[in-house]
Amino acid sequence: MTPTPEPAVPASGSDYGELEAQLKVFASEIGGLYRAQKERAEQLETALAALKVTYLETIRSLAFVVEAKDAYTGQHLERCRAYGVALMAELGVADDHPDAEYGFLLHDAGKIGVPERILSKPGPLTAAEWRIMRTHPVIGYQMLQNIPHMTTAAEIVRCHHEMFDGSGYPERLRGEEIPLPARAFSIVDAFDAMTTDRPYRAALGTDHAATELARMAGTQFDPEVVKVFLPLIDRLPALST
Ligand SMILES: [Fe+2]
Repeated sequence: MTPTPEPAVPASGSDYGELEAQLKVFASEIGGLYRAQKERAEQLETALAALKVTYLETIRSLAFVVEAKDAYTGQHLERCRAYGVALMAELGVADDHPDAEYGFLLHDAGKIGVPERILSKPGPLTAAEWRIMRTHPVIGYQMLQNIPHMTTAAEIVRCHHEMFDGSGYPERLRGEEIPLPARAFSIVDAFDAMTTDRPYRAALGTDHAATELARMAGTQFDPEVVKVFLPLIDRLPALST
């Protein structure tokens, strides 16, 4: 035989009052904990943002050390970074590669291992000098490969002279064998090189540069990424040259 459940005893008025008081204490404790946690999260967020700025500035300094050694023009690295970040966002992959901007800044860091006489030689390089010059992507990659959270940056550095048709270096990678951020970088790097003054020629207009990129889509550059970059040109952040 199933025992009949005991009827619930209705709580008296004083029981309700006590329960209510306990709930109020509980709610106020929870509220206090929530506010403390929120404050802690905000402090952490501020510290993280400061750390990120420090990290970027450190990398920028390192990149500028190399740029000072090379005879390349002033703001090239900064424009490569800004244009590269804009293109990664337009491709919808910026969040997948938060360290890409470090790679854009450091792409030529391996030139630190190339003798000055080759870097700043006024005339054309000999075959032997080219062989040395072409080691800079691998030297740069070796500098970065063991740094945590720099995987994409290291890949950009290693692959920034690869070409879509497989005619680049150091590994003659082709098509999608070249990591997407490196394919994006080679477009913004070439665009910036074309649209700034060089000792041997004046800057090309952006329309002319766009035509050149379109012409080299499929050989030097990934045609799909060029297609995304061309309409972005008018919206690139304005930086001094
Ligand atoms: Fe390079």
